[in-house]
Amino acid sequence: MDSSLLHILQEAQAAMSAATDPASLENIKAQFLGKSGKVTELLKGLGQMSVEEKKVKGKEINDLKVQVEAVLNARRDALAAQAMQSKLAAQAIDITKPGRQRGAGGLHPAMRTLERIEEIFTSVGFDLADGPEIETDFHNFTALNTPEDHPARSMHDTFYVEGGNLLRTHTSPMQVRYMQTHEPPIRIIAPGRVYRVDSDATHSPMFHQVEGLWIDQGVSFADLKAVFMDFLKKFFETDDLTIRFRPSFFPFTEPSAEIDMAFTSGPNKGKWLEIAGSGQVHPNVLRHVGIDPEKYTGFAFGVGPDRLTMLRYGINDLRLFYENDIRFLQQFN
Ligand code: FA5
Ligand code: MG
Repeated sequence: MDSSLLHILQEAQAAMSAATDPASLENIKAQFLGKSGKVTELLKGLGQMSVEEKKVKGKEINDLKVQVEAVLNARRDALAAQAMQSKLAAQAIDITKPGRQRGAGGLHPAMRTLERIEEIFTSVGFDLADGPEIETDFHNFTALNTPEDHPARSMHDTFYVEGGNLLRTHTSPMQVRYMQTHEPPIRIIAPGRVYRVDSDATHSPMFHQVEGLWIDQGVSFADLKAVFMDFLKKFFETDDLTIRFRPSFFPFTEPSAEIDMAFTSGPNKGKWLEIAGSGQVHPNVLRHVGIDPEKYTGFAFGVGPDRLTMLRYGINDLRLFYENDIRFLQQFN
């Protein structure tokens, strides 16, 4: 190859190996092999040459073209390989890294407690009942022997809603609704949300109650005590409980008792906490729903599951249940 052609080849080699991306490589290609590239110009020049000259020069220029093309293709491949390498490096997955954790959800402690209570009572033959959270004045008060001017109404700080209805202040209206639609023997629990204008460490404006009701011939206060104690022993998984039945008053029971339990752990250890109201269903309540109080008797209770959860886990402030602090809730997973 003559020295001027060799020079062009070396020039092409240098320029192409200096190209660091496909676009600049294509520009360099145009400088040599494009329409007015250096190699193309040489080929055009062949037209002016004699046949003899053409034979020699033509072969040389064609060799040059083939070699420039070879350099170009090699560089193209190298750049493509480089691009692939850096793409792979950028997308590299470190398979030795620990996987991303998807936090396992869990039931809220209040729901767990409700489920436990339902399980315990249904296992001894109680049925489940359910009713509205927006109640009539009649079901929440009047039918429960609490007429409009009764002083006990002020014990419940009631949220009233439009139209004279109210947010039920306890689950006791479920007693009325169930007895209106079922004949004795009746044995139910009715869990649900209830509402009162009330807020401190042991009172939340929305809280839960589980109503219990057993109506049949000859059901006595002794049965109440036996059933409730049996429930508590199962719930707390121990026979060693400190419980007291404290004489109390509800318009819808006679006699009535509130049930207290002592904390066995946490900052309140040794202190009493009221967990339920209870008593023998008042004859007036039975009459209101058409059950003969001379024939049937029974007991009812309304227990606060949120308070039971406090006692079970030694929690001193009930409002923690409703503040959605994930650090608190995670402990119950
Ligand atoms: C009642 O609500 C009666 N209906 C209970 C009853 C039912 C008596 C059947 C007789 C027969 P009391 O207001 O005491 O009673 O509430 C019952 C329980 O609900 C309390 O012992 C307590 O455990 C829980 N409780 C009451 N107010 C709150 C509150 N603001 N926050 C959390 N728990 C509460
Ligand atoms: Mg009470």
